[in-house]
Amino acid sequence: MSFPFQLYEYEELGSTNDELRRLAQLGVPEGSAVLAERQNAGRGRRGRIWVSEPGNLYFSLLLHPRCSVKEAASLGFVAQLAVSEWLAKLLPASTKIQHKWPNDVLVNGKKISGLLLESSANAEGLVDWLILGLGINLCHHPEDALFPATNLFEEGGLRMMAEEAAQDFVRLFQPLYAVWKERGFAPLRSSWLSRAAFLGEMIKADRGEKKIEGIFKDIDAEGFLLLESHEGIQRIGAADIFPAIYHSSKEGSHAASH
Ligand code: BTN
Repeated sequence: MSFPFQLYEYEELGSTNDELRRLAQLGVPEGSAVLAERQNAGRGRRGRIWVSEPGNLYFSLLLHPRCSVKEAASLGFVAQLAVSEWLAKLLPASTKIQHKWPNDVLVNGKKISGLLLESSANAEGLVDWLILGLGINLCHHPEDALFPATNLFEEGGLRMMAEEAAQDFVRLFQPLYAVWKERGFAPLRSSWLSRAAFLGEMIKADRGEKKIEGIFKDIDAEGFLLLESHEGIQRIGAADIFPAIYHSSKEGSHAASH
């Protein structure tokens, strides 16, 4: 293990990310983590609500990477790799496990996990602390999500406790994090791409104020999505992506869960 893992467990929190931020500000070390049975103010990306009823995983891990905030953004991909590796070990070999840019994992085309990265930087722009907030649908999922969702029990008939899932995640994340700390995201990029959903396909990138259609060509060394649109290659840092033919009443919504 490249850091000691110290887990703080709670029955109910607003958000595990908020509690871990409080602990980070008190000076707890890298590897400190928070797990809650339920969250009453769980947050997703782009201001969305993360519905957090008991049974699923609501987990946050504290890291102190010595790098800029920009470089640290690729840690989301590293965490995603650990989640997909974990799922690949648990589910039958025929299961389709994919990385949906930026940080979701899909099982058989449906979202099973999401990540919320939050960080604080010092005056030099270096990361003070970074929180990896991970939600995994272990035994239930919302039916009205922005993107179709699923859960581990439904996909594999497996009953997994959140604490065990958190420990497994950290065990798989540690060696990947060690590679990332030594050599950055570059050596992990091809593993990420090997499971990338919609790569080479026409997608729609919803940036809130703007939706762009084009072919998902690649991700670059910093994890930006490279989209070939009629205006040329667009480099996208934050968006929700969908197959171009996909229609959802929730698209563009910032209030929907998951
Ligand atoms: C997303 O896909 O929009 C990201 C979801 C992240 C949810 C997790 S659950 C644990 C942690 N605490 C939160 O409030 N959010 C993250």
